[in-house]
Amino acid sequence: MNRKLAKYYDNLAKEYNKLYYGSKLKWMREIENIVMENEIKRDYLVLDIGCGTGEQLQKLNNNPAIGLDISIEMAKIAHSKTNKFVVVGDAENLPFKSKTFDCVISFFGALNHVQLNRALKEIRRVLKDDGILIFTVANVYDIRWILKTLRRKGIKSTKKAVKNKKGEIVKFINGKRIKVKTKFYDLNDIEKALDKYNFHIKYTFGTNITNSFVDKIIYKSFLKNFGCYIGVVAAKKNKS
Ligand SMILES: C[S@@+](CC[C@H](N)C(=O)[O-])C[C@H]1O[C@@H](n2cnc3c(N)ncnc32)[C@H](O)[C@@H]1O
Repeated sequence: MNRKLAKYYDNLAKEYNKLYYGSKLKWMREIENIVMENEIKRDYLVLDIGCGTGEQLQKLNNNPAIGLDISIEMAKIAHSKTNKFVVVGDAENLPFKSKTFDCVISFFGALNHVQLNRALKEIRRVLKDDGILIFTVANVYDIRWILKTLRRKGIKSTKKAVKNKKGEIVKFINGKRIKVKTKFYDLNDIEKALDKYNFHIKYTFGTNITNSFVDKIIYKSFLKNFGCYIGVVAAKKNKS
């Protein structure tokens, strides 16, 4: 398990809801809700990877659902908020039997911290044969991030950041600076990885371009490719 990553999120846990809630994420959450409501049937057993403080587990109130998070502090909050079973573990090494879940979800970037191939292999293993995978990951072609980087650092640095698809998240918690490394993906990376692990993409969607109602309208249009997050709904293919 990546201890540095776990520690970063342990430190963030108590402040997470203050930092990441409110109008900034309103439409992203709306879109997540639409996708979950459309795709997750009431009797599905769901695994939420990187459940954080339980945002999605809470919405899955009527489903049998289990959370998993690398951070024990996040897991504690998710459990106390939702009363769901929450496991401390790593997306790259899932502590579940093969073919257990009808659906695996992972919203808002847990998969930006993993070796995607390893995580997808594990997700495929724990999904039932007709299981579905729904996730969002940070998008390297996030137009607002690109414009902000251009303004702050100029063309050369922006080109380099986009090319390397690597970055850092920096936060100040109780006056202390904490940071963690993260990766970014483009749609092509995601399509290739899903294909390699025998997933069929049902559709992709985007989140957060304008932080307004407009996001809800464009989440499936071509503009989705320039949102903060790439969203995917995929089904496990049975090997022929
Ligand atoms: C930005 S938060 C998202 C939480 C929640 N899904 C949401 O939408 O608010 C990312 C979460 O993923 C967890 N995480 C990061 N890397 C992980 C890994 N390799 N395995 C499991 N959880 C991980 C973090 O601890 C954190 O709680």
